[in-house]
Amino acid sequence: MATIGTDILRAKAFLEAGDLVAIPTETVYGLAANALDAHAVAKIFEAKSRPEFDPLIVHTHSLEAAHDFVSDFHPDLLKLAEAFWPGPLTLLLPRQDKIPDLTTSGLGRVGVRIPAHLLTLSLLRELAFPLAAPSANPFGYISPTQAGHVQKQLGNKLSYILDGGPSEIGLESTIVGEEDNRLVIYRLGGLSVDDIESVVGNVSIQLNQSSNPKAPGQLKSHYAPRKPLFVGNIETLANQHRDHKVAFLIFGEQPAWIEPGFMVKNLSPTQNYKEAAANLFAYLRDLDESDAEVIVCDLLPGMGLGLAINDRLRRAAG
Ligand code: TXA
Ligand code: MG
Repeated sequence: MATIGTDILRAKAFLEAGDLVAIPTETVYGLAANALDAHAVAKIFEAKSRPEFDPLIVHTHSLEAAHDFVSDFHPDLLKLAEAFWPGPLTLLLPRQDKIPDLTTSGLGRVGVRIPAHLLTLSLLRELAFPLAAPSANPFGYISPTQAGHVQKQLGNKLSYILDGGPSEIGLESTIVGEEDNRLVIYRLGGLSVDDIESVVGNVSIQLNQSSNPKAPGQLKSHYAPRKPLFVGNIETLANQHRDHKVAFLIFGEQPAWIEPGFMVKNLSPTQNYKEAAANLFAYLRDLDESDAEVIVCDLLPGMGLGLAINDRLRRAAG
């Protein structure tokens, strides 16, 4: 099993030796390796059982450091970087040659992000290279928001887990790039569309590609629990599945018709979207590990982070 701790220098030593270390971020935990070392990056794909067409996000500590491996910043993307880094925003930017093909799956753009987590920022400042890191979960499964989640699923495949506590945001970063001089959101995430548009005006959204995706976070079935999860009117769904042990994932006040004895996880009793985002993946895991046979949930109102949460729920339902 991996060692869990808060020792940045230990994490640094493993990374310098080309090994894998899990890092905490405000979105989800990442499975990190030296982004400039193809051998180290290959270990990430192996550990995650991830198809190699899936490019990785490169994490760095400052805009200045990003300029070391990015060849050009579109002015609107630079505005977003200045407004929201460090934070839950990944920018797709033209890469320099020093980024190995494996890191970007041969694509001309590299995903770049400065995470807003003090421990990981300190680690990144200690290192002479940026860190490639996908979410630290087996491919297709729910992303980890706690060190223990990483240990449970990938603990035998990495050296060290840097423990930074539960991820504050709990949803992966929002991914933005530019095509034909227009900004495009490829993945909804921890930074809302409204926040982005408040800085650069209208952007288009391109999600839901199912084959050869530009961002596999767009794959239709992703972020998925092993148990069947159904999205819709939970009362109807609970009736349809009454022959099975049903668990409920809800948002807001608990309906009176849910009888005692049912397993219920409430994303936010007060309908706070931030709280719901932070709880989402941990609660999906709890329900997946419970003795329930079927998970049912309703979509949230489609505003703010509700859009990204609904996106994850739909993909979790496959
Ligand atoms: O919040 C996050 O983004 C977390 C933390 C660890 O930073 N990372 C994360 O990584 O969610 P991952 O690999 O699970 O999802 C990254 C998504 C993938 O769908 C990938 O295809 C897309 O970003 N992506 C990365 N680089 C890309 C590129 N050069 N072009 C297109 N898509 C890219
Ligand atoms: Mg992922």
